[in-house]
Amino acid sequence: TDKKIYSASTTAPVNIAVVKYWGKRSVKLNLPTNSSLSVTLSQADLKTHTTAACSSTFTENSLWLNGEAQDVSGARQTACFRELKALRKKLEDANPSLPKMSEYYVHVVSENNFPTAAGLASSAAGFAALVRAIADLYELPESPTELSKIARQGSGSACRSLFGGYVAWEMGQAVDGSDSYAVEVAPASHWPEMKAAILVVSAAKKSVSSTAGMQATVNTSALFTHRACDVVPKRMEAMKAAIENRDFEQFAAHTMADSNQFHAVCLDTTPPIFYMNDVSRAAIRAVEALNTHEGRVVGAYTFDAGPNAVIYYQEKDEEKILGFLGTLLAPEVAEWAGKYAKVTPEGYDN
Ligand code: PMV
Repeated sequence: TDKKIYSASTTAPVNIAVVKYWGKRSVKLNLPTNSSLSVTLSQADLKTHTTAACSSTFTENSLWLNGEAQDVSGARQTACFRELKALRKKLEDANPSLPKMSEYYVHVVSENNFPTAAGLASSAAGFAALVRAIADLYELPESPTELSKIARQGSGSACRSLFGGYVAWEMGQAVDGSDSYAVEVAPASHWPEMKAAILVVSAAKKSVSSTAGMQATVNTSALFTHRACDVVPKRMEAMKAAIENRDFEQFAAHTMADSNQFHAVCLDTTPPIFYMNDVSRAAIRAVEALNTHEGRVVGAYTFDAGPNAVIYYQEKDEEKILGFLGTLLAPEVAEWAGKYAKVTPEGYDN
């Protein structure tokens, strides 16, 4: 019998949404209540590196993240393994000489080079890397959009990390999730002036998981319906146009308004959810003050389900952004706080 160990390695980037995903219409399939749009960040700074291996000699599925064994019996991991194995089985049925990998257990080892679960979208890069690594191991011919439907079931935002540049997750309508996937809006090379800085306010784990938070918001917030039905559909179109036209002012206005509305629906949830802290709010005031001082929009902040700020800016304004944030934030924060990393939106070798 075949005792060989097969393996494949890959990396996946972090993405930071400028139109946020917040709310599920299906928890089981991770189907969202609104479409979302993100920018893929440079893998030089933030990435997950993952190796997947399989062999007839393995006796169970396993997943290691940053040196710690993870639970693989969870519905999200199980869904990814199951769907990828089904695609491999199809290949093997069409080509009987292929090794029967679909019958083997899988071992996955994953490392992040940034704080896990601190609102830095670690689950997005993690599940995207897991899906790509196993898809590579299985030599699957499926497109990134097809694979994004599988990554989506691991973590919603992960579907957007299958692409580089500017990426939309189209919410779709089907109850089986077949039309809820990621598509490229523009490659990173379309807008070379775009840059991002991450202000790490805290590397601590977030207090309310995104799934629990989303469910609470969907069930209790009146503002949520207005956001999902009235605001986001229009904003998706406006954001796509801003990207197409490389209109930083429009891009920034929608990015900041969307982050603020996402945190407003969190506050409108019962009990209220707070992801930002005093340092986050100081960063907002700093960027707003800088934009006012300059008489034009130089920076655009956005916050995910955590206190860390991501600030988008144009390369020509780098000194202004980093200098201003440094002086404003450094004295009032300790340890991790106030550290920032420069990251460039980046392409992805599909
Ligand atoms: O993919 P999840 O379930 O971790 O949810 C991510 C939610 C936000 O990061 C807050 C928004 C987004 O679109 O990434």
